[in-house]
Amino acid sequence: MLQTLERADIESINFGGFDSPVIEVRGYQNYDLTADTITAIANPTSLRPWTDTKIKSELFQTILDTVQPKTYSDFGSNLGYYVFHAAMQGISSTGVDYNKEYTHVCQCLTSRLDIGQTTWFHSNLQQWSRSASRYDLVTVFNVIHHLYNRTEEYRNMDKLVSGFRNKGTVVLFEFPTERDKKGYKWTMDTDYTQELFEEMIEKHFSEWVMMPGQTTERPYYLCYA
Ligand SMILES: C[S@@+](CC[C@H](N)C(=O)[O-])C[C@H]1O[C@@H](n2cnc3c(N)ncnc32)[C@H](O)[C@@H]1O
Repeated sequence: MLQTLERADIESINFGGFDSPVIEVRGYQNYDLTADTITAIANPTSLRPWTDTKIKSELFQTILDTVQPKTYSDFGSNLGYYVFHAAMQGISSTGVDYNKEYTHVCQCLTSRLDIGQTTWFHSNLQQWSRSASRYDLVTVFNVIHHLYNRTEEYRNMDKLVSGFRNKGTVVLFEFPTERDKKGYKWTMDTDYTQELFEEMIEKHFSEWVMMPGQTTERPYYLCYA
């Protein structure tokens, strides 16, 4: 049984009545979904200034164009934006989140619109690591700071990075550094640093590149096994 530390960050899910073709999803991720389209929405409020689904979606599409994965998994998949986005392009896509509110909502959206190519797992990294599944591309957006000493207790960057390395041929991290407000809050009193993270991706991947993030405190790292 996974212990969830907070309720899901969902503002509204507007199904629009029985004959509406569009579902409007608003919360930590913001988008409109139909049976065969997904439209990212720019941050509709001043909440969560470090993340904007529309901006991240553009970066994500350039990564899909570069990597051209056949299989994809988003760890910490939240309201499912990136999983639906990839699935709409025929990529077999899996969302993993430890909060079953998120995975159940995503399953409900999938069922209502009969969307193919998606699978939703209610799991955390420790459990997911025990399964043999591997993917051409894995994304780890804004979640690694939670795993360190909060929703899981890795407290070990080596083990954490190698856990993701074992799941993906290419892994894209969005890494909240110790200079980020939440990065600091959730990892203080541990050895969590950007420098240690870079040491460990150097150890576990054969090639990696850092890219600017949505804030300077949350860069991306594209890592090749
Ligand atoms: C800050 S949100 C980021 C959401 C999404 N990755 C994004 O960047 O748009 C963190 C997400 O990770 C999930 N999460 C936190 N700890 C987790 C864990 N140990 N295993 C799986 N998911 C986790 C939360 O439920 C939430 O959906």
